[in-house]
Amino acid sequence: MACRGRGLVSFVVAGLVGGLLVVVPAAARDRPECATGADVPNPAVNCPDRFAWESFVEVMTPAAGGLPAFQTYASDPDTFPCPPVDLDTCRKNPAAKGCPVWPSTYAAKPQKVTQRSARLGQLGLPTVAAHAVGFDCWSVPNTELVYRNRPAFDYIVAHGLWYVEGVQDQFEDGLVYDFPTASLEVKTNWIPITQEQAASGRWYTLTLDGQTLGLIAMHISTKDLPNWFWSTFEHVDNPGRCDFLGCHDSFGYTPHDVPTRPRQLCETYPAETITPALAKMIAGLAPAAKDYRLKGTMVDYTNATGSPNLVGNSVTEAGFVTTASCMTCHARATVQATPGPPQGLSPYPGIAGFTPEGQSYNGTPDPDWYYSGNDPVRRWSVQTDFVWAIPFKANSLASTAACCSAGGPCQCTPVPGGGACQCGLGTCSGATGAP
Ligand code: HEC
Repeated sequence: MACRGRGLVSFVVAGLVGGLLVVVPAAARDRPECATGADVPNPAVNCPDRFAWESFVEVMTPAAGGLPAFQTYASDPDTFPCPPVDLDTCRKNPAAKGCPVWPSTYAAKPQKVTQRSARLGQLGLPTVAAHAVGFDCWSVPNTELVYRNRPAFDYIVAHGLWYVEGVQDQFEDGLVYDFPTASLEVKTNWIPITQEQAASGRWYTLTLDGQTLGLIAMHISTKDLPNWFWSTFEHVDNPGRCDFLGCHDSFGYTPHDVPTRPRQLCETYPAETITPALAKMIAGLAPAAKDYRLKGTMVDYTNATGSPNLVGNSVTEAGFVTTASCMTCHARATVQATPGPPQGLSPYPGIAGFTPEGQSYNGTPDPDWYYSGNDPVRRWSVQTDFVWAIPFKANSLASTAACCSAGGPCQCTPVPGGGACQCGLGTCSGATGAP
């Protein structure tokens, strides 16, 4: 994945950060030929915005029961059962309780731990304090549901990566994580909407615990590039949708670049106008499809001059949009061999997702994140091929039913001297194994 394929990189004024007016590079953009429908080589890098919409169509195309296809994929609870059983058991009997299961019914299942709550948890802050942490129009909690397609699900199952001890075994065996190119993962965010809003047909909806939820944000990552292809979508009505980084869609909507409005944060942006090419592409989807906008795509850590690329969703990356880099943060998705912070740096099971200030890392990854000292072969944390769910969602064989029903993840293995598996993320410490 070289800079060769990149189009122009436009710059937008990002607004005031730390008292300085900063100029940040925008998302990836299509080369001019993409709009003509021409057969452009390497479309994920050369026509990233067109490619993002093609991915959107793939996941939104009605499948069984009329649901958008992504809702028929495996969710995190399908992939990371709690309490889990081990690989040997599931190889002998894939249907055993505690084995990952490709869903045959398509009811949404609650998935309690989110990137957002994890971040606030790390900072020791309650969700309501989100507003104080950064610029955040979304202090209302939302429901986050993650799904992966069959190739991504099968990879996790084949390697026994749904449970902590399986991940540890693979660490010992030196697995180099490499999802197949057909892999696709989706992260969706939902908020309760009124019956009136639901009837308007302007939202993708689902029912969870008797409540009607509307889709407000959607990340799609696909393995079409070695470091994945990254794109993010928002409901057009989202307050603050283009704040800080602007909105960038060089294929589907005009104006192609909507600048941030530093003096009107958290307000709704005027709806952009659809291009004929996109209108044609989404014609077979539910009417709600036209109420979503591509916020940006990412195909490399930096632009051609080495400045970090930044892309973040106003909902999912609320509070750290100004520093958000899908690729860099996901490059830090790692696991390590033993619980506990090596050299005081990393919480189990890998290096931290966020900076100590609760922001995203961006730009090129630092080799020191993965290797210790000067010895390039001494790994201390191993990348899980950009998939955060593996360090975040895998449960320990020692999980208790109580921990699982509290939402998990249940990652802490019992420590010498006794102590039960505890819920939550973080470092196991002391005799209790508390995070
Ligand atoms: C600062 C860190 C950070 C940034 C920035 C970030 N993510 Fe994530 N992402 C996470 C974490 C942590 C998870 C796992 C927990 C969860 O599902 O909320 C995750 C989960 C996901 C998933 C579900 C698959 C997986 O890896 O488990 C997708 C898809 C995803 N992110 C896409 C994106 C896209 C697209 C962007 C950029 C627009 C982005 N992310 C930006 C941290 C980040």
